[in-house]
Amino acid sequence: RAYGEPHRPRFHFTPPAQWMNDPNGMFYLNGEYHLSYQYYPDSTVWGPMHWGHAVSKDLVRWEHLPIALYPDSLGYIFSGSAVVDHDNTSGLAAGDTPVVVAAFTHHDPVGEQAGANDFQKQSLAFSPDGGRTWTKYAGNPVLANETGIRDFRDPKLIWHEPTGKWIMALAVYDRVQFYASPDLKQWTYLSEFGIPGDTRLWECPDLFPLLDPETGETRWVLLVSIQQDAPNGGTATSYFIGDFDGTRFLADPDRQQWLDWGTDNYAFVTWDNAPVSPDRRIGIGWMSNWQYAQQVPTEAWRSAMTVPRVLSLRREGEGYFLASAPIGALESLRAEETRLGRRVIIGEQEIQGSFSPDRCELLLQTDLERTTASLFGITLTNPGGDRLIIGLDRENGQVWVDRRNSGPKGFSDAFFVGPHSAPLDFGEATMDLRLLLDVASLELFAGEGKLNFTEVFFPSSPFQTLTVWAQDGEWVLSDGRVYSLGGIWE
Ligand code: FRU
Repeated sequence: RAYGEPHRPRFHFTPPAQWMNDPNGMFYLNGEYHLSYQYYPDSTVWGPMHWGHAVSKDLVRWEHLPIALYPDSLGYIFSGSAVVDHDNTSGLAAGDTPVVVAAFTHHDPVGEQAGANDFQKQSLAFSPDGGRTWTKYAGNPVLANETGIRDFRDPKLIWHEPTGKWIMALAVYDRVQFYASPDLKQWTYLSEFGIPGDTRLWECPDLFPLLDPETGETRWVLLVSIQQDAPNGGTATSYFIGDFDGTRFLADPDRQQWLDWGTDNYAFVTWDNAPVSPDRRIGIGWMSNWQYAQQVPTEAWRSAMTVPRVLSLRREGEGYFLASAPIGALESLRAEETRLGRRVIIGEQEIQGSFSPDRCELLLQTDLERTTASLFGITLTNPGGDRLIIGLDRENGQVWVDRRNSGPKGFSDAFFVGPHSAPLDFGEATMDLRLLLDVASLELFAGEGKLNFTEVFFPSSPFQTLTVWAQDGEWVLSDGRVYSLGGIWE
């Protein structure tokens, strides 16, 4: 399948056609990574939700599978997760293949219309054949809503080894509630976690342990997507690092941090059962923002996922942050290499080589001792006069992305606000920057992975020139490389 429509990413996951939002039900089994997603097969805007479905052996190249879950008499199929039930605690296994159990929210639009406050409930589906076919559990829902709070959704399951039970993290309006179960069917309320006085809407939680290889200590990470007032507007994924004792989550004093500072990484959640060491966790986010997701100018389909990313803990002073990096297998897409080597940039310089600026990977190492420019960056342009600018403002310790003139306006006002910025600790000796460009998106990684910046854009024609520039001095690269990247459907 060689997707050729304007703005169609070449190495990011997109649905074949129609509307997609959150990643759902992710697990690894028998050499395959499964990815389901919020899907409406009848339109390019949000509607009655299904779970679309795809599978990959390397998290890079995907194969589309038939829709996994359809709406039913209990409602639409909202976001949720899946786990491999190795010990058949659920009793739902048949044969030798471990049963995969998905938990999702049944959203009843009729109840919602009628003004009920319990129209969101948690239900199960299971797969006896490693995730190929799915059956809804006959006893649905397994968790009714007795809280009186309307927003009660997005169950994320995890096996809690120390206490030998399943834990469900659930977004309940402005907090996360935790429930426990021996068999995934019967759930008992444990506790809740929120920020006193903060009443923003929380969605799509995730809870998992990560080992700090340096101290041997395990910390717990709670991801939560926030529906409003993200650092650069609209919706974004945040996280807390702390402790989870099987009942309660206790956050470290540094509190809430942003997983990604750009506008387009929402509902980021992680894979169950992935074959990685305990100091790593692999996840993926929806590369859009509810502020304009339904208006962006694509025709056949709407929205893409981020590249899958590896999360790990990094110490900083007394606390921790989460470092993100693109998964290693992405390097298998690298084709021609253009070497920039050691290079001094004064004013503007076009970078040419065997790559197409709209679809490439840049690796730039800045020599901070020799760099005298206070501001330097990268600009993409096309013959139509669209431009996208990435600025590295050393003086103010910031990185910014300006997409205000990145393409035809009019589809959304919120989209063209900016520039968008994030704090960046430049360090002292060298600063490594990695940039992934894929037709309609950029993903920037810097500062040992502490800084991730993900943004989408829609130029009138593909970006054709890539220039690097420095203001008031020299930008000295100690090394630089550009790779052309192959597509994942080719
Ligand atoms: C997050 C979200 C979830 C919900 C789903 C519905 O983007 O609003 O809370 O389950 O999308 O599609």
